[in-house]
Amino acid sequence: TWTAESFIESTVKEIREQVGNDRVVCGLSGGVDSTVVASLIHEAIGDQLQCIFVDNGLLRKNEFQKVLDLYEKELNLPVKGIDASDQFLEALKGVTDPEKKRKIIGNVFIDVFDEAISNDKSFKFLGQGTLYPDVIESISFKGPSATIKSHHNVGGLPEEMNLSLIEPVRELFKDEVRNVGRKLGIPDGFIKRHPFPGPGLGIRILSDVTRDKLTLLREVDDIFISELRSQDLYDEVWQALAVLLPVQSVGVMGDERTYEYTAALRAVTSVDGMTADWAHLPHPFLAYVSNRIINEVPGINRVVYDVSSKPPSTIEWE
Ligand code: XMP
Repeated sequence: TWTAESFIESTVKEIREQVGNDRVVCGLSGGVDSTVVASLIHEAIGDQLQCIFVDNGLLRKNEFQKVLDLYEKELNLPVKGIDASDQFLEALKGVTDPEKKRKIIGNVFIDVFDEAISNDKSFKFLGQGTLYPDVIESISFKGPSATIKSHHNVGGLPEEMNLSLIEPVRELFKDEVRNVGRKLGIPDGFIKRHPFPGPGLGIRILSDVTRDKLTLLREVDDIFISELRSQDLYDEVWQALAVLLPVQSVGVMGDERTYEYTAALRAVTSVDGMTADWAHLPHPFLAYVSNRIINEVPGINRVVYDVSSKPPSTIEWE
């Protein structure tokens, strides 16, 4: 039978054998999967590992610094933090198509990553947090070339980088990865974090991405997520997120007519992210969060809650 302990033991051994005296570079995303992978590799080969954590400007509020601190101070991972938000936002200027956004974000990531390791030719391997559902969803349900969407953490590295992939959790589901992470001593609060897509808030703004919209969405998201936490609902859902719709509508605030944006909130229950039901959050909770958002976030005058399940909807709106 599968246990986290035996998985760790055999995987650490395999990584050691595979890597030998070479070096491994690992991109950290701030999520559970890449963190578990980096910790596994670190367990296997210590400081032959170099991690890179890129701020793509599309992370949640204060996320970059918080997570970088965790990596450095609590997990002792050898990590280099790179703020590349200007580069990402510049490349995304005016782009509205979600697949184009994904491609751009993926490509800029590769450029930044490549640049970061270009001075050091000793890297032979790349560690990646690819999960089993990522592999399945990227393989396509429709035929070899029609993928549902491009996951920027599957495949996708230019061959001239000459790195071999290490994907130790490629056959695992999220809950198994979480168990492995716990056994590796990653704090429970971090392990229980909801999934967050690589392209981040970039695909949760359903129009062109600007700094102003990002600031707005960050505030909405922060209110939603922190209220879920403080009202003990965070762990009850698989994932919760906020979306900035490209729709403006009329409202009244005080004596004034407003014409502002709509935010959509989505929370789902799921086992593996492949199917999901919308979370039946208590109405008083939704009312409270909606009130806070509309009162505290200038630019939003309407909040809607998504009551669709996957399939036929997806978890993200894109
Ligand atoms: P969908 O929207 O397809 O999402 O129902 C399923 C799960 O995958 C997450 N997701 C991603 N995760 N890189 C990731 O690491 C990505 O590019 C990506 N796109 C979607 C999504 O948040 C949900 O948990």
